[in-house]
Amino acid sequence: MGPPYDNRTLEDAYRARTPGSARLAERARSLFPSGVTHDGRFLEPYGIYVERAFGPHKWDVDGNRYVDWFGGHGALLLGHCHPAVTEAASRALATMTHPGAGHALEIRWAEAIRALVPACERLRFTSSGTEATLLAVRLARAFTRRRKILRFRTHFHGWHDHMTSGWQNHMDGTATRGVLDAVAENVVLCDPNDLRAVADVLATDREIAAVILEPTGASFGMVPTRDGFPQALRELTERHGVLLIFDEVVTGFRVAPGGAQAVYGVRPDLVTFAKIVAGGLPGGAVGGRVEILDALDFVRTRERGEEKIGHPGTFNANPVSAAAGIAALGLVATGEPCARANATAASLRERLNELFAELGLPWAAYGTFSGVHVFPNPEGRAIDPSSFDPHALPFAELKARPPKLAHRVRLALLLAGVDVNGQLAMLASATHGPAEVEDTVAAFREALLRLAREGDVALRSRT
Ligand SMILES: Cc1ncc(COP(=O)(O)O)c(C=O)c1O
Repeated sequence: MGPPYDNRTLEDAYRARTPGSARLAERARSLFPSGVTHDGRFLEPYGIYVERAFGPHKWDVDGNRYVDWFGGHGALLLGHCHPAVTEAASRALATMTHPGAGHALEIRWAEAIRALVPACERLRFTSSGTEATLLAVRLARAFTRRRKILRFRTHFHGWHDHMTSGWQNHMDGTATRGVLDAVAENVVLCDPNDLRAVADVLATDREIAAVILEPTGASFGMVPTRDGFPQALRELTERHGVLLIFDEVVTGFRVAPGGAQAVYGVRPDLVTFAKIVAGGLPGGAVGGRVEILDALDFVRTRERGEEKIGHPGTFNANPVSAAAGIAALGLVATGEPCARANATAASLRERLNELFAELGLPWAAYGTFSGVHVFPNPEGRAIDPSSFDPHALPFAELKARPPKLAHRVRLALLLAGVDVNGQLAMLASATHGPAEVEDTVAAFREALLRLAREGDVALRSRT
């Protein structure tokens, strides 16, 4: 951790600590738009370049160590390089990387998923979560012979054409740049948690094939789901013959071994997975009712005289991801990793709120399960961190992260040895524990005091 009271400005201090990252960022800018390979990794003036990672930590090319709450975009419930996952993947890698045929690992992988998530009567593997939600939507349309899907504003389901409007912008449902109007016109948006709006749409629009949601709420609970909402959606969709898709790309195997559907006691028609399902390696899956997945079956579709939905994909069920996934799901099945991560996140939320109260900063840490969201209070509301209720705020405000402030908070935290994601969210792993919580609270203190000195935040009481 750097000295808290040096006189350099935040950006100077960051540059002084990360010269190796600065050099790599310069090269990256000539190769990638904004120098990054995922929008979520964009940071001004530049992000860190990581050389190695283990457990809850990662080290940049300048040798600085960070407590890593970015969590591989949520993929790392077991932390970095869990020995069992690394060993299984290494063994698979040395055996074959692509058989161009079926293999026993894909069967064991699917069996492990179905043992945890019984709604997955049949499955197909994909290479990412984006591909998984794309396939789920196509299956839903084919099964119901209806055109439209219903989504919730702010919920994220990947970046394919059906999923772009209403996530960060285009809240009116118009097509985002590069997407066809005809696609956007077949996506209906409702506000999160607005059951009445969903009921109205389903009662009046007979073209809705499916409702898809992040079951615990947008961005893993940044806009949290209200109690009873998933169950009510299940009841409503069933009544109207509309499919319910749980996008468990983040929640799957993270909130509980059986995912959010196990926690809520809801059986969706289709489920999408990625991230943890492949042990933190590339991979995704779609599971669901056998009669829906039958649209991918050569024989069933032929018997019924139906057109089969094509589903190729060079790296579907690749053996290395399969081996990592089997190892990870074996550990998840014990229930321990989810329980540990959930407990650590709860403790971090509590400790951060104590810090905000002590500093007189009207921010709050909130979240559910293993998620921690920092609410930077863009409207300057009078809030008490310890009793903050995200449900009392409009969803747009919960989701808002003033870009300049978010960048400066991230820089100040990096400087203090902690990495959070661009939405100022943190995902706990089973390898984070009390030491990482305390290191993180200390880093927040150092970062907030620096930001206060530089005029980014106002603290009512300085300690
Ligand atoms: C809920 C949800 N669905 C889908 C996706 C897309 O997954 P991928 O990044 O693997 O394409 C993500 C990615 O963060 C996600 O959080």
